[in-house]
Amino acid sequence: MTLVSAIAEPFDPFAGAEQTVVGAVRDPYPALAEKRRTTPVEVVDEDFGRHVEIYTYEDVERVLRDNHTFSSTVYVEVMGLLMGHTILEMDEPEHRLHRHLVSHAFRQKVLAHWEDALVGGVVDDLIDRFADRGRADLVRELTFPFPVKVIAGILGLPERDYVHFQKWSLALISVAYDFDRAVAASQSLKEYFGPIVDQRRAEPAEDLISDLCQAEVDGQRLSDEEIFAFLRLLLPAGVETTYRSSGNLLFALLTHPDQLDAVRRDRSLLPQAIEEGLRWEPPLLGIMRAPTIDVEIRGVAIPAGTAVGVNIGSANRDETRYERPDELDMRRDPKQHMAFGFGPHLFLGMHLARMETRVAVSAVLDRLPNLRLDPADTSDAHIHGDIFRSPTTLPVLFG
Ligand code: HEM
Repeated sequence: MTLVSAIAEPFDPFAGAEQTVVGAVRDPYPALAEKRRTTPVEVVDEDFGRHVEIYTYEDVERVLRDNHTFSSTVYVEVMGLLMGHTILEMDEPEHRLHRHLVSHAFRQKVLAHWEDALVGGVVDDLIDRFADRGRADLVRELTFPFPVKVIAGILGLPERDYVHFQKWSLALISVAYDFDRAVAASQSLKEYFGPIVDQRRAEPAEDLISDLCQAEVDGQRLSDEEIFAFLRLLLPAGVETTYRSSGNLLFALLTHPDQLDAVRRDRSLLPQAIEEGLRWEPPLLGIMRAPTIDVEIRGVAIPAGTAVGVNIGSANRDETRYERPDELDMRRDPKQHMAFGFGPHLFLGMHLARMETRVAVSAVLDRLPNLRLDPADTSDAHIHGDIFRSPTTLPVLFG
């Protein structure tokens, strides 16, 4: 498939790919609570071999904090083939160097600029399209389209291309369901970014690609391949997660009208509502590591190289850390959650994601009075998913 034929192909994300990516699991948390009680460190034998799953906050923190013993290179076989050599699969000292090179592009001053110049406008433009209708699907008309427009804007790319990013992004994260389509998407992205990176190297502008082209640490700059890898990672990392976390938060507030009213009345509660939404239903349930030496966790021997599934969704509901963990309570004592990971790989764009969600939810509360779930809705809107979790529809009424 060439770039051109890939671009021409018609695309309805909710007509298949999205369903495959998310999967049907509605509420994994009772089973995860059982795991924390009975097998907090679980050895799992599957056709493709043995791996280990960890479920408690304490063990998740231990593993993610120590990236010398627990390596991220386990991602090489999972994502490296598609994405290239990304920051996500790097260990020290390479990881720290690259983190310095790209984190420059996410500094506070730049985020403030994007908030004013981009995010607010993107969200308002989408709400303009349904604000007079008195009803909307907040997933299909807002939370799904806005993050990719933001990422396209941050990269300084034309809006007409964002639908292609959505397609390539879904193709990348649904690699388990269609490997060839994912490889084609990865190739299309490289072909798409090639001339753009050349041009930005020659004439830098005010965008993230130019920042990446110019970033320098110890006289070292990023190569084209390293930039392509980072840009490929940005799609699933920056789009899929923010789309899902903002959908989860809106679902959380709409199904807890008392907390929705409280945020509507007092917008200073929104930041803690965002954190509680991420704790209660993180968009990504699990990440991975592999020990570089033989280790033992709670008496379970884990040989070097064994894939370890780090269940951040379970850690976020750990009753030894959070009171009433299954309850959504934005007024609970703020304690760090694991939705953004932890330790050296703690997620780079968390301030961007928080800002995007704050702007989107604020605009919804400002512009859609008396917002409520559509009682006549028969689609049974709910959060679901095995690894990526979010509602795929959210029909509401307002006015
Ligand atoms: C609510 C939204 C988001 C969530 C919940 C989230 C979650 C995560 C998690 C859990 C990790 C750590 C993975 C690991 O340690 O193996 C991570 C890493 C990363 N995320 Fe996100 N992410 C979000 C949005 C974004 C956005 C908006 C961007 C960029 C625009 C982004 C870029 C990255 C990058 C580059 C890494 C790798 C950092 C490193 O390895 O040092 N993410 N994210």
